[in-house]
Order: sequence, then C-alpha cells, then structure tokens
Amino acid sequence: MSRKKIIAGNWKMNMTPSEAVKLVETLKPLVANEDVDVVFCVPAIDILPVVEAAKGSNIQVGAENMYFEEKGAFTGEISPNMLTDAGVKYVVLGHSERREYFAETSETVNKKMLKAFEHGITPIMCCGETLAQREQGVTMDFIRQQVKVGFQNVTADQAKTAVIAYEPIWAIGTGKTATTEQAQEVCAGIRACIAEIYDEATAAAIRIQYGGSVNAKTAPELFAQADIDGGLVGGASLKAEFGDIVNYNK
Ligand code: G3P
Repeated sequence: MSRKKIIAGNWKMNMTPSEAVKLVETLKPLVANEDVDVVFCVPAIDILPVVEAAKGSNIQVGAENMYFEEKGAFTGEISPNMLTDAGVKYVVLGHSERREYFAETSETVNKKMLKAFEHGITPIMCCGETLAQREQGVTMDFIRQQVKVGFQNVTADQAKTAVIAYEPIWAIGTGKTATTEQAQEVCAGIRACIAEIYDEATAAAIRIQYGGSVNAKTAPELFAQADIDGGLVGGASLKAEFGDIVNYNK
C-alpha cells in the first residue's frame, strides 16, 4: 500500500505570535509540495495567527498538546473543542519532553488519543527509547508497551488514520540522527506491533514518522525507507531548511 508521506514541524516552545506569522510567510512558498501532508505543530498561543497566515496554502496546523476533558475547572489546559474551533487538524501527544518534564504517562496519552479521535483530530503519538534502554537492548520492548497502552480501546478504523512518531530520545536536539537502519528497524517493529494489535490492513495504513535531528541532508534517505512515512522535525522546522526537508523528493 502506498501511504502519503507526512512531514510535520514541532516548534516546541519557540516563536511568539508575531514571529510565528513571519515564519509562516517565509515558509509558505517553500513547503508547497503536494506529494506530502505538511503540518505545523505550534504553541497554543500561535494557533490562531498561524491558521490565519497559512490560509490558501497546503499547510495544516497542529497543536503540541491537548487535554482529555471537554471543559471545566482545568486551569491552563486546552480542550479538543477549542482546537477544532480554531482550525487545528492534528495534535502531538506523548512527546518525550512532555513525558519527562510534565509527568505525562502512556495512560494519559491514551485518554488524549481517544478524545482526539472523538473530535476528528489526528493524533501524532510519540514514542521512543532512552540511550540507556537502547544500550540495554530493550528498545523494542519499551516502545511496544508505549504503543499498546497508547492505542488501548482505539478502533482499527481510528488507528488507520493515526500517525506514530518514533523519536529516540538520545537523537532529539542532539544533532545525532539515528542511522537509517536503526530508524527503519524500529519503525518496522512498530508496524508489526500494530499488526498484532489489529491486523495487516491497519498496519499497512497507519503512518509512522521518524523524529530526532532530521535535517535536509538526512531526510531523503530516511524517508525512502519502507516503513518511514515522513518525519517530525524540531529545530530544522524553524528555518528555511524545512522547505528542503518537505521537498526531499524533488
Ligand atoms: O518532535 C520533534 C523532535 O523532538 C525532534 O527535535 O530538534 O531533534 O529535530 P529535533
């Protein structure tokens, strides 16, 4: 099955609203590649200006987090309705930075996944091992657990539309990209895990990204792998280089 590539920028805690608008204006013409889905996942305060600035382009907007309740006394949180009303189509869930600094667990990620599907928001669910886990040889056991818990009670039809981002923690923001072989091996393992949970058709449909120091040089080989359907890009999504990453096939 041929899956459309999805290349997403994760801006993390960067860009004020006015900086965000400038960046979108700069990147708009550079990311016009109709062969791929292009998503900008931006800080909550940037969502409205970025949706506005991206109008008429191929850029879709994502959030970097979301809460799993509909509304109420949850100071500081953002609900799924708020996101959809603002024009958000995707949400990054369970990024390793949220797991590490904000005590996010696979169980809370699962609740958010279910809510996102309920509201028609496509989750980009992150998973990935630490360096210590890789050295101990438990990478795949750890990731399989993250995926199994994250997808609990998610139906096959929902899972087919989901995106999983494999981000080895040791490769995030370090300039150390996983080798193409390492990235492909784990992405294939994640797909096999989805086939076990659901079936081959679901595994063939779900999109799996690689993330971790992706740049314009490494993108073409990474995205050419059988089980890598694009990337989740941090640092390089904040500059013109993101255009080269999106146009990796040109
Ligand atoms: O979600 C993207 C990410 O964590 C990778 O960041 O800066 O290594 O591309 P970076």
